[in-house]
Amino acid sequence: MPVVVDPDSSTLSELLTALPPGGHGMDTTGTLTAWLDNRPDEYVAVIGPGVDFAEALELCETLRFTRPTVSVVVVRETVDTDVLTKAMHAGVRDVVPVRDLAAVSGAVERAYQLWIALRGPSGVARQGRIVAVFSPKGGVGKTTAAVNLALALADRGARQVVLVDLDLAFGDVAITLQLFPSHSIEHAVGGEDALDFNLLEPILTRHEDSLMVLAAPSTPDARDRITPTLVARTLRTLAENFDFVVVDTAPAFDELTLTALDETDECVMVATLDVPTLKNVKVALETMDALGIAQGHRHLLLNRADDEVGIGADKVEAILGLKIAAQVATSVEIAAATNAGRPIVAAKPDHGSSHQFQHLAARLAGTSFADRPDATTTKAAATDEAREDGRARFFRRRR
Ligand SMILES: Nc1ncnc2c1ncn2[C@@H]1O[C@H](COP(=O)(O)OP(=O)(O)OP(=O)(O)O)[C@@H](O)[C@H]1O
Ligand SMILES: [Mg+2]
Repeated sequence: MPVVVDPDSSTLSELLTALPPGGHGMDTTGTLTAWLDNRPDEYVAVIGPGVDFAEALELCETLRFTRPTVSVVVVRETVDTDVLTKAMHAGVRDVVPVRDLAAVSGAVERAYQLWIALRGPSGVARQGRIVAVFSPKGGVGKTTAAVNLALALADRGARQVVLVDLDLAFGDVAITLQLFPSHSIEHAVGGEDALDFNLLEPILTRHEDSLMVLAAPSTPDARDRITPTLVARTLRTLAENFDFVVVDTAPAFDELTLTALDETDECVMVATLDVPTLKNVKVALETMDALGIAQGHRHLLLNRADDEVGIGADKVEAILGLKIAAQVATSVEIAAATNAGRPIVAAKPDHGSSHQFQHLAARLAGTSFADRPDATTTKAAATDEAREDGRARFFRRRR
């Protein structure tokens, strides 16, 4: 996952939009160095214009020998012969002018190609996308959303999807899908130092044809044995073997959830139309801003978005500073489908709520809903597509 450094938060946000999903922002080169120590697979570091040029060159000189597979891209206000000569001597891979985001994207893409070439064909990992479904509040519909999004992404086996239950103490993904897993993430405890897919594959549970599930432990105390390292390595390993890793989370900003959010490429933030939830979601978003988590890759899912509660969609967007990506109304059919062990997307794919999950899944996949085989495109869907087209193009370009 690419990383960008700049002390100025608005410059950081702007540069992050030029990076592929999952890009991380940080404010100092010291933080970057610490980050790289834990990221053997990192391929590019973008140094923003706010970082002192001499400091950027010094960092590059060091990385040239300690991490030769990490390309350094330097963004500068002025790109003249003097800057280029010094950059070349330090081993900077690319120097691009500030505000030329297309040039930044191009440089990052070239860095990725170089990294693949350096790793060799056998070392090329699949780059699946990690989608975390999160909310700081309990009971708002995280599991409902995670399960339905995973099913929508895996629709007809078009993509390989794994759903991970990281609500480790009280996870209910398995019961929601009427699964009775014999294994859970608990069975990978102790294996974190040598974790690979051979160890993970046997502990997954299959749901029908299209979806795999990594279940939560069956007893709450097992949670204490699951470390952040295990969570991080599990998600990364799954991302190398599936197109999508959808993660259901606990309603807490604890270390394990933060670890998962740190690994995530796309974060679906679930909110409901009540003041306490909106307040907590706002605090969570601000915390994620401060930690540089999923900036530019957050999707607001408004659940139980009913008209009569007195808070409108526009108000929510203004409070949270985030556009609503999908709205699901309260529906007895959603609860009934969950209770029957066949979530709404599977039980009633043409239900309005199912369409919302399908649209959000399409947005996460960088495709339009109409690209699905046999999809019935409604007028509303067509409008959504137009709105999402820019983002879809962005994702396609990144791929
Ligand atoms: N739009 C909806 N309409 C009707 N019922 C819903 C809707 N969304 C969720 N529910 C129901 O609300 C309950 C809580 O939902 P869910 O388990 O998805 O929340 P959660 O955020 O995962 O909760 P927790 O924090 O406890 O994990 C479930 O019984 C679910 O079926
Ligand atoms: Mg839940």
